[in-house]
Amino acid sequence: MKPLISPSLLSADFANLQKDIFMLNNSVADWFHIDVMDGVFVPNISFGFPVIKAIKKHSKKPLDVHLMISKPEKFLKEFKDAGADILTIHYEESTHLNRTIQEIKNLGMKAGVAINPHTGVYSLEDIISEVDLVLVMSVNPGFGGQKFISGSYDKIRKLRKLIEVKKSKALIEVDGGVTDENAARIISSGADILVAGNFIFSSPNPSETISSLKNSAMGQKEKAIIT
Ligand code: DX5
Ligand code: ZN
Repeated sequence: MKPLISPSLLSADFANLQKDIFMLNNSVADWFHIDVMDGVFVPNISFGFPVIKAIKKHSKKPLDVHLMISKPEKFLKEFKDAGADILTIHYEESTHLNRTIQEIKNLGMKAGVAINPHTGVYSLEDIISEVDLVLVMSVNPGFGGQKFISGSYDKIRKLRKLIEVKKSKALIEVDGGVTDENAARIISSGADILVAGNFIFSSPNPSETISSLKNSAMGQKEKAIIT
C-alpha cells in the first residue's frame, strides 16, 4: 500500500497561498495538513479560522487539522464550521480525551489523537479503539524544518502492535522531519500517513517531491518486506 501524503501548509507561501493550494490539488497529495498553534501549548503562533476557511474554499482534498492549542475542546464546532474533515488533538492537552473524541465524531469529523515525543504509546491503550488516527510527533511541536527524532521508529512499531492487539482501525500519521531519506523506514515501521512541510515546500518542484515521497516510500517498503 502506498502511504497517504499530507503536506503541511505551515511551510507554504502565505503571501500566495492560492498558488500552493492549486499545486496540491493537482498533485498526488491526499490531504492538506493544517497546523494550528496558539503560543500557549507550543512556543509559536500560526493561523486560525479565517485562514482555514479560505483554504477550504479552494481545496479539493480533505483538511487534516492538527491542533497544537490549549483547551482544544472549546473550539470543536468552530473547526468543523471552518472546514476541518479530520481533527487531531493532543493527548497532553486533553483531560477528558474520551469525551472530546466522541464530540469530534458527533460533529461528523474523523478524530485523531497526537502524542509528543515524550509521551509513551502505552498511554493510548484505553483510547486506541475510539480514534480514527494517531499522530506521532517525530519532532517537538511548534516549528517546521526540524530534524526527525530517531527514537520515533521504535514508537511507530510499538503503536502498530498496540493497534493490532486492540483490533483498532486507527491509522498512524507521522509528523515532523520527514524527508525522502527516512520515509521508507517510517513506512516499514508501520506508518500509514506522512506529513511533510519543509521538505516539500523548499524543494525546487514540490509536486514532484510529493510524488517521490509517495512512491519511493512504497518501493523501499516492498524492498524491506522482500529482503
Ligand atoms: C510541527 C508541525 C508539523 C510541521 C512539519 O509542529 O506539527 O506539521 O509543520 O513540518 P516539517 O516537515 O517541516 O518538519
Ligand atoms: Zn502537524
